Amino acid sequence: MAAIERVAVVGSGTMGRQIAIQIARGGVPVALYDLDSGALGRAATAQRDFVAGFVANGTLAAAEAAPLLARIRYDAELGAAVRDADLIIEAVPEQVALKRQIFAALDEHASDGAILATNSSSLRVSLLEDATARPERCANFHFYIPVWDNPMVEVGGGTRTDPAALDALDAFARRIGLLPLRVLRESTGFIFNRVWRAIKKEVLAVADGGIASFEDIDRAWMIHYRTPKGPFGKMDEIGLDVVQAIEEVYAAESGDPADRPPPILTARVARGDLGQKSGRGFYAYPDPAWAAPDFLTPEATPEATPEATPEATSGGTPGGAATGDEDRPGAERTTNDDEEAR
Ligand SMILES: NC(=O)c1ccc[n+]([C@@H]2O[C@H](COP(=O)([O-])OP(=O)(O)OC[C@H]3O[C@@H](n4cnc5c(N)ncnc54)[C@H](O)[C@@H]3O)[C@@H](O)[C@H]2O)c1
Repeated sequence: MAAIERVAVVGSGTMGRQIAIQIARGGVPVALYDLDSGALGRAATAQRDFVAGFVANGTLAAAEAAPLLARIRYDAELGAAVRDADLIIEAVPEQVALKRQIFAALDEHASDGAILATNSSSLRVSLLEDATARPERCANFHFYIPVWDNPMVEVGGGTRTDPAALDALDAFARRIGLLPLRVLRESTGFIFNRVWRAIKKEVLAVADGGIASFEDIDRAWMIHYRTPKGPFGKMDEIGLDVVQAIEEVYAAESGDPADRPPPILTARVARGDLGQKSGRGFYAYPDPAWAAPDFLTPEATPEATPEATPEATSGGTPGGAATGDEDRPGAERTTNDDEEAR
């Protein structure tokens, strides 16, 4: 199979714009397409900021910034974006029907030899491959956010993927500075996202059940694993709508109501608090509480951020005065869950 020399990325949101940067940084020309031309403009602005950040932190020579950005082409027409690509990576929202529609359209516009890959966080490519006439060239190619700080990508095939296509993806991943992790057998969530999903599900249940504030869960995580942010800060970075959509995939697959995303998540998504990208999620941005110098300081006496109102809680005892249980941990919480902890 020919080497991958040109790439197109479909969807220029949180992930598509980062994937395009990583590819361009690896010296490969990349076209970025989005249905929403406004999104393309926002992606271009964000990409300039990312690149300026690489220069500022010394990971990119100043002289390389302009050539890197020049390798990214913005196309408002799908056919034009993908026509000359050897690899097309879709990064549109996590819905099977939408991704199938995209795969079918890509099949129509792409060259015969092109590999069609999905950056889906959870969906097995075998759910998409038969939307095309080239299942042997369909694959999962799953990146992690931020792409440059998580130099790994999961590579996996569907029921008929040609091993040579997976080898080509492995080689391409290495070329752009990412370690390919091979998914040996198809599995919803692949490798690390299965593990991360177990963590997400549990921390959401603990907070939704009123057992602890999400900040304290993050504090425990950050102290124990020495990470700069905890699982709730990470979900804000991913996008709470994206997290919700992924949880819906698992719930649809298992049919178990316990797998449904809990109100602590769905209530935020319903009111447009999508995380970092909307300025508010579990935390408020651009200066989230988890990044404050005193977030983990024993001397600080933070007020716990209240969690669920009774109607927004799926399990446990909701925080707040309604129970009259003043001695219960968290009983001092108010019902205004928009307040930051400090
Ligand atoms: N956010 C993350 O941390 C993360 C990490 C790995 C994988 N993913 C996966 O990547 C995919 C995209 O996630 P995201 O966070 O970038 O979402 P996003 O909502 O930030 O971006 C999606 C983009 O797709 C565009 N889009 C919607 N319909 C389209 C269409 N028909 N044609 C072209 N563009 C279209 C939207 O305009 C938007 O710009 C999802 O499958 C998600 O599960 C996300």
